[in-house]
Amino acid sequence: MGEYVEIFEVGPRDGLQNEARDIPVAEKIALVDCLSGAGFRRIEVASFVSPKWVPQMAGSAAVLAGISRVPGVSYAALTPNMRGFEDALAARADEVAIFGSASEGFSRANINASIEESLARFAPVAEAARAAGIPMRGYVSCVSDCPYDGPVAPEAVARVAAALAEMGCYEVSLGDTIGQATPERIDAMLAAVCEAVPAQKLAGHYHDTGRRALDNIEVSLARGLRVFDAAVGGLGGCPYAPGAAGNVATEAVAERLAALGYDTGLDLGIVARAADMARAMRLETGTRESGK
Ligand code: HMG
Ligand code: MG
Repeated sequence: MGEYVEIFEVGPRDGLQNEARDIPVAEKIALVDCLSGAGFRRIEVASFVSPKWVPQMAGSAAVLAGISRVPGVSYAALTPNMRGFEDALAARADEVAIFGSASEGFSRANINASIEESLARFAPVAEAARAAGIPMRGYVSCVSDCPYDGPVAPEAVARVAAALAEMGCYEVSLGDTIGQATPERIDAMLAAVCEAVPAQKLAGHYHDTGRRALDNIEVSLARGLRVFDAAVGGLGGCPYAPGAAGNVATEAVAERLAALGYDTGLDLGIVARAADMARAMRLETGTRESGK
């Protein structure tokens, strides 16, 4: 058996947050329940953000209440501030995530704060997570390009990643939010970030707009990363990143990793079934227009 590489399934959150149709909670629960049998260790299923900003995630507490939790699977939620953290705790999320940006333009558009302000807002969440014994992950968006500010310097990514790790994030996920990165740019970004945060604490979160996500994963493997975020059926996008396509598809990542000799521990038959469900959910909808 090859070396284990983990796919962190983000479809029920990153995948569905951008869908235009109000997807019934029961459909989301059915998708999560299917994914729970596939062998994932972590599945991001919820986001406790303002329903005015991201209406699709308004049912997050009901999703966490309705899923059949499989022992050994951690059900994760985004929590941008204390209000979100408290709601996630009440809904029994197993872990939470704070999410910042390496670029000022996206930080402002996505969470209505400068980078510095966002870090100040995350500090009490980190403190509360530590006190409650809840693992906390961190995201850095726009690790290569920002839809508002253009190309992003690797050092800017390293600064925010280091700040999140210092705050107590057990892992920092690096987001190519608009999927424009090339393997060369990802490699240069990782060279800078790995100086500040060890590769074992990093994950790659690559959207597939430019169809280079799988190649970006390959260069990340060479830099020592062993965790990649993906969404079944390639669902997704970010409502505050115009033109951002879906996350790289879980089934495509699993296939590429297998071809490279890695073991993901996934049941690919179940993943395929979940991907069919996810695609059917999307077919009925199209994606939401960007904007608040
Ligand atoms: P704000 O307007 O600066 O905050 O938004 P505020 O504290 O002034 O609150 C404004 C309103 O939101 C108030 O309600 C609050 O009660 C409410 P009102 O008085 O207007 O009725 N509110 C909340 N409601 C529910 N849950 C909360 C919460 N907090 C405040 N936690 C805020 C700041 C962060 C809340 C807002 O900007 C927001 O919700 N942004 C979310 C953006 C988002 O979810 N984006 C998508 C996820 S990030 C992503 O997809 C990228 C990623 O995948 C990585 C990558 O690909 O790069 C992770
Ligand atoms: Mg994303």
